[in-house]
Amino acid sequence: MYAPDRSHLKRQFNIVVPSERDVSFRRDASMEEHSLISGGCIIMTRQIGSFSYIGRKCEVYSTHSIGRYCSLGQEILIGLGPHPTDWLSTSTFFYRKNMWAGSPLVDEFYASQEVDFQAIQRPVIIGNDVWIGSRAVVMAGVHIGHGAVVASGAIVTKDVEPYSIVGGVPAKPLRKRFDDATVERLLASEWWRVRPDLIKGLDYSDVSAMLDRIDDIKASSDDWEYRPRTVTVGAVGA
Ligand SMILES: CC(C)(COP(=O)(O)OP(=O)(O)OC[C@H]1O[C@@H](n2cnc3c(N)ncnc32)[C@H](O)[C@@H]1OP(=O)(O)O)[C@@H](O)C(=O)NCCC(=O)NCCS
Repeated sequence: MYAPDRSHLKRQFNIVVPSERDVSFRRDASMEEHSLISGGCIIMTRQIGSFSYIGRKCEVYSTHSIGRYCSLGQEILIGLGPHPTDWLSTSTFFYRKNMWAGSPLVDEFYASQEVDFQAIQRPVIIGNDVWIGSRAVVMAGVHIGHGAVVASGAIVTKDVEPYSIVGGVPAKPLRKRFDDATVERLLASEWWRVRPDLIKGLDYSDVSAMLDRIDDIKASSDDWEYRPRTVTVGAVGA
């Protein structure tokens, strides 16, 4: 359920969501604790991971998940879907009965046909530690790899490699965050699964030392996995 008492969400789970009239969720949308959504958003993703935030006026459609430690700026559009470009018309009138139903003309129009434009689209998937700059647009079906950065104003039409920085229209690689060997170690480490209390107080700018430390943590105990509580926040407004 969408918790009617937002202060309870904040107190119990450190989850911040705007008032019901200022956000729409999928009914089954769930958030891991320690996550934040700003006002004016439409959030049609199933999952949002811990330590992720979504800035003001973002619209997220057809999305499976947004990982942990993600930073989404303002006015981002994600999962914009297709219309049929090779039909008589691109209009939804010709294939989305539910959107137009309710008048005699439309009911009559659909009485003799069951037209469906099934866009065979993969959902958008946003990995862990992804940073998306303000006013970026991510088209339907795009997978954004762990650690990637999308520049502000980019229009992303293709999958984004882990730990790459992409920008422009259409988005192209600008550079990589780290050398290939470091990227390989980061991906293998899956550091976002490690309990935050085990990596507190360290020098996060020294990535190599951090990765050594994470190897040590995993080798020395079985109890390294972070297991956040999850809250279903989407029962209202979906
Ligand atoms: C993508 C970004 C992180 C680039 O960081 P960077 O690599 O340190 O940037 P640099 O200034 O060194 O630029 C590297 C190249 O990318 C280009 N570039 C930078 N930002 C760009 C953008 N938004 N779109 C297209 N190209 C961009 C630069 O022109 C430069 O190109 P060049 O090598 O041909 O000269 C940054 O520009 C950005 O967009 N940040 C998002 C800010 C934001 O929206 N914050 C909201 C709060 S979450």
